[in-house]
Amino acid sequence: MNFKSHLDEFEVFGKVAKAAANLGLETYVVGGYVRDLILKREKSGHKDIDFTCVGSGIELAKEVAKQYDTHVPLSVFKNFGTAMLKLEDWELEFVGARKESYRADSRNPIVETGTLQEDLERRDFTINAMAISLNANDYGELLDPFDGLADIKKKLIRTPLEPSITFSDDPLRMLRAVRFAAQLDFDIDGDTFHALSENAHRLSIISGERIVVELNKIIEVKKPSYGFKLLFAGKLLHEFFPEMVELQGVDSVDDKSHKDNFYHTLQVLDNVCLMSDNLWLRWAAILHDIAKPATKRFNKKVGWTFHGHEDKGARMTPNIFRRMKLPMDERMKYVQKLVKLHLRPIALVKDEVTDSAMRRLLFEAGDDIDDLMKLCRADVTSKNNKKVKRYLENFDKVAQKLIEVEEKDQVRNFQPPISGEEIMKIFGLEPSKIVGDIKEEIKEAILEGKIHNNPEQARELMLEIAKAKGLTLASNPPKS
Ligand code: CTP
Repeated sequence: MNFKSHLDEFEVFGKVAKAAANLGLETYVVGGYVRDLILKREKSGHKDIDFTCVGSGIELAKEVAKQYDTHVPLSVFKNFGTAMLKLEDWELEFVGARKESYRADSRNPIVETGTLQEDLERRDFTINAMAISLNANDYGELLDPFDGLADIKKKLIRTPLEPSITFSDDPLRMLRAVRFAAQLDFDIDGDTFHALSENAHRLSIISGERIVVELNKIIEVKKPSYGFKLLFAGKLLHEFFPEMVELQGVDSVDDKSHKDNFYHTLQVLDNVCLMSDNLWLRWAAILHDIAKPATKRFNKKVGWTFHGHEDKGARMTPNIFRRMKLPMDERMKYVQKLVKLHLRPIALVKDEVTDSAMRRLLFEAGDDIDDLMKLCRADVTSKNNKKVKRYLENFDKVAQKLIEVEEKDQVRNFQPPISGEEIMKIFGLEPSKIVGDIKEEIKEAILEGKIHNNPEQARELMLEIAKAKGLTLASNPPKS
């Protein structure tokens, strides 16, 4: 297979080939770029190209930079023996072929120079161990010593060497195997998967930061349940996400069983993915029932219950985020909020539900109400299609009612109709608890539907409340 015509389309390959020829260095395009080219996989944003030469990658990068008339930013990582060039559309990484294994974050400098073959065999998977020559004698030729092309055709993730060697070089690769299988919809080769299950415990030496990068890539695919099933079957999930493993299993008492919450969660996750690309909404789907095992009870009359799992799940969310090195900022708060509120819209399906219940939910969910509704729709996973249809229609009604209530009272982004400052001026008060109490009573009255959310009605109510509290107007209160 020859890629000369592809290389000719982009100036960058010609420049690298020229620089390599100037230095007399054997040079190749390697890794993900070659794989994605064969798969015809389009990537958005910056495109990374990895170049390997038999010699110094840093010298090659410097020579490539010289090929450009304008200044090209060059970063050199001496300890790793690598260098990076940033062009407008590309990020070019240069490295010398290594005999030793590829180490993504090793603190030890990698010095031993190897041949192309030696470099490729220490890579993670056959589909990532192909190279395209930039050398004059076979320019554009595909070099594929481990049959990566055949594995692409077979849709197979397989290690170039004996899998336990490849995985012990870098245990994160076990997670990468699942990630590539999930992204590309490939199988994992039997021997590779066997070694992965045997070595799963070795993930313990990998930092949480590296694990979560791969995990999020698995979550970001079109249908993440497949990746999670592989993680579970290979016992990788057990290493870093025991709470999710706990969800698996069905208990029965007196012939009464509950559903398997692991597979239910995966179904909810897949459903949410059909509606949104938002990673954090996907995390909310993963965590929505996370406290079910901890709250599970059996009661002879009603069977299995999971009372309070939404509150407990919300309390577990920060701990899980912290441990998994997920961001402890507003993204965590968003996930926590959705976990906490995920049962509320279902409760609003009933006909006799009051507007005030709607207003309270709008108030609590704020701008995340639409995402919450998506999560709730995704949570309908019955096998009975008629039931699913009925539930979803009910949600349509709730959504419509929410719109109507919001139009009337704008509580979704609740802004108090009277500020604390106004209250202080009107009654000549210093900042104090009583000011907060008045504001709170006004807010409650709006949510309860006793008054509408407007300054006139709020002012009237404020005067009543103040009177009851024995407050008098300031000597020169501001005009309303
Ligand atoms: N690699 C490896 N072992 C790792 C990480 C990377 O062998 N633990 C090798 C693979 O040959 C891989 C290349 O380094 O193709 C580049 O790695 P990376 O940029 O992480 O992945 P890509 O394959 O480029 O894929 P993507 O950009 O989708 O992450």
